[in-house]
Amino acid sequence: MTELAYLAAGVLFIVGLKGMTSPRTARRGNRIASVGMLVAVVVTVVDLLSLDTRLVWGLVIGGMVAGAVIGAFLAIRVQMTEMPQLVAAFNGFGGGASALVAAAAVVASDAVMPTETAVTISLSLTIGAITLTGSFVAFGKLQGLVPSRQMFLPGGSFTNGAIAAAAVIAAGVGMMYDSTNAYWVATALAALLGITAVLPIGGADMPVVISLLNSFSGIAASMAGLVIGNQALIIGGALVGAAGLVLTLEMAVAMNRSVPSILFAKFGGTAAADSIGTQPVNRATADDCAIALAYAQSVVIVPGYGLAVAQAQHAVKDLANALEARGIAVTYAIHPVAGRMPGHMNVLLAEADVSYDLLLDLDQANPKFKQTDVVLVVGANDVVNPAANNDPGSPIYGMPVLNVEEASTTIVVKRSLSAGFAGIDNPLFYQDSTLMYFGDAKKALEDALSALENL
Ligand code: TAP
Repeated sequence: MTELAYLAAGVLFIVGLKGMTSPRTARRGNRIASVGMLVAVVVTVVDLLSLDTRLVWGLVIGGMVAGAVIGAFLAIRVQMTEMPQLVAAFNGFGGGASALVAAAAVVASDAVMPTETAVTISLSLTIGAITLTGSFVAFGKLQGLVPSRQMFLPGGSFTNGAIAAAAVIAAGVGMMYDSTNAYWVATALAALLGITAVLPIGGADMPVVISLLNSFSGIAASMAGLVIGNQALIIGGALVGAAGLVLTLEMAVAMNRSVPSILFAKFGGTAAADSIGTQPVNRATADDCAIALAYAQSVVIVPGYGLAVAQAQHAVKDLANALEARGIAVTYAIHPVAGRMPGHMNVLLAEADVSYDLLLDLDQANPKFKQTDVVLVVGANDVVNPAANNDPGSPIYGMPVLNVEEASTTIVVKRSLSAGFAGIDNPLFYQDSTLMYFGDAKKALEDALSALENL
């Protein structure tokens, strides 16, 4: 019965994941996967009850209550803009939990372990440890606790290669001689590798890294499932591992990066921070912005991280409604890594009830800009930086961007000429066809709407 229930949970996870492939079915998919998780948890608790009631009520239920309280607290408190850090932290905790499960198995074993158990324990310990420390470095970079720029370590990839090789050797010794100490050395080296591998990766590549660590946390969980013979953990972990890997590859393609080149920090150089914001720009007021929009036939809105900071999604929608009432065609161009997490802009715009039909992805939007009268860039920077197309020296060269400079007029709403996440200047701001409308996105769009209504 337990195995059948775990299988049912696995099916619910898969159906749920399938639902999450489209914004229309994502909420339902989330609910279905949650039911699967509930089934898995209840079955595990019931299964444990047959072993030792004190263990279940004391540790398991106590742990679940503590986890639920901390989870609810974080979910209520953490801002939408801090979600990627939260995901990074969750990945880290997931990896750490899997490593602890494997560590408990090492401590508990009093006989020589069968080879397959030794292998899965080694993988769970090392991958879990890399995920734990790597995720917390990523967390630190996103939270501003660790500099988000590339931080090169002495020896670069060779140092990381040497640490990885030493970890593999230590795990091998652990497996061959059933040596507990060798397992701990392998775990410590893997934890060190998590830090030294993620530190040199630049901030702009962090989404790919977090997704890869998410995949690692799934693989570590799956291995932990094999160690303790829990089918739900094996299936759930494998799904997270596979889904995370698919997302990693898709994001790497969206940024025109290859995963090895990100991991071995081949990209990026030092951004010329001194030159940021030193050239003259065309400043626009709310009235200038309203006039440009009012006389347009087609407007494409490009949201970015600043939209999330300003919580300007409703202001964007109100402005779009006013433009549509004037017969102006409004669409939205969504870059795959706009904001700070995959789907960030989609979630914000869905909150403001923007129809999914109006959202264009990168490939749909780019051919449209040449025929667009006005592009309204709201709090986006890196994802509209033409240097990615035409400056081979730029750290983001080669990353596909939204070619908004091809429109007749581009209005950029942001507070200053400050850089975006990648820390580099944006030549778009200095072009003749660009109007810089400085201000907090929410307030600026509300002012533009008032100006439009007074025209
Ligand atoms: P960014 O390049 O980070 O630029 C955001 C801009 O928003 C900033 O230049 C900032 O300029 C402006 N801003 C901040 N607060 C604002 C406010 N209240 N009102 C108006 N503007 C405001 O954003 P993007 O174009 O969306 O690009 C995303 C970047 O994040 C990429 O480099 C991407 O690789 C990286 N990243 C993405 C993810 C995912 S998965 N999406 C995860 C981690 C990192 P001011 O300070 O001048 O206002």
